[in-house]
Amino acid sequence: MARKKITVVGAGHVGATTALWVARKELGDVVLVDIVEGVPQGKALDMMEAAPVEGFDSTITGTNDYKDTAGSDVVIITAGLPRKPGMDRADLIKTNSGIIKSVVKEIVKYSPNTILLIVTNPLDVMVYAAWKHSGLPPERVMGLSGALDGARMRAFIAMELGVSVKDVRTMVIGGHADTMVPLPDFSTVSGVPITQLLSKSKIKAIAHRTKHAGAEIVAFLKTGSAYYAPSRAVSEMAESIIRDQKRVIPSAVYADGIYGVKNMFIGLPAVLGSNGVEDIIKLKLSADEKKEFKASVKAIKVLLGHLDI
Ligand code: APR
Repeated sequence: MARKKITVVGAGHVGATTALWVARKELGDVVLVDIVEGVPQGKALDMMEAAPVEGFDSTITGTNDYKDTAGSDVVIITAGLPRKPGMDRADLIKTNSGIIKSVVKEIVKYSPNTILLIVTNPLDVMVYAAWKHSGLPPERVMGLSGALDGARMRAFIAMELGVSVKDVRTMVIGGHADTMVPLPDFSTVSGVPITQLLSKSKIKAIAHRTKHAGAEIVAFLKTGSAYYAPSRAVSEMAESIIRDQKRVIPSAVYADGIYGVKNMFIGLPAVLGSNGVEDIIKLKLSADEKKEFKASVKAIKVLLGHLDI
């Protein structure tokens, strides 16, 4: 069987780390693209020299030419400006949507049937822009949200309880922003709901920390944003698609009437397989959860208003 091909656009912190995770998992051969000459080539070569030690056979090619991305099965887009301290996601819309447009046009020219995974922020708006500019069916376009937010929540629960991260499962839906909706009722430790293990105030604190986890890291780094967890989380989505695992991963997906939401991308539990988003699972939400989700929808609508399409 021919190897799969995964393109990562943007060879910065998130993109380069994603390329490494993808190669280490041998999901396929990786093409790393950036607008800056030399950077993707240098980073790709460095990773190729790590391959013999780690023992992976995936190749990583660095390039500035989209011709090299032809026939990609999955394309992960991380190109854009990261959020700086004090900078709102809304501030980034104008710049990053321009970058998304130019990247997506090039990508679909060479890979007209690909599946797009968007990482660039503000996430839900960038996924929408990517979908519009790509002309791809909505199930072939999605964004990194709950896979990352849910991983962060898992880490916080495990830290609080002193249990293995492996046994902690979480569910975070809504926008990939402060209005995301962590769902404690759908979060468990080996099947035990966290509501039976943690006090209400502890759960509230964990939910709050999850919502602001990106900002917590920006405040430490000062000149950049998180990349280890984002790159690992998006490679999990890519793996489910490439290997047709049909994992249920909350992702920014096209809402077509679910909870009354239409014509936008928002975080929902999605079945990811070789056709992209193969199903969306509708959760039975409480009145409060519905209210929070609606607030998230409203916030995304406001951001979409800044988009020039
Ligand atoms: N085409 C290709 N690459 C581009 C383009 C473009 N038009 N414009 C910028 N880039 C590249 C930059 O040259 C840089 O190498 O995108 C890369 C971005 O890398 P970083 O600045 O290190 O940013 P990073 O931390 O990787 O974050 C990228 O992911 O999580 C989100 O909020 C984050 O939107 C940001 C994105």
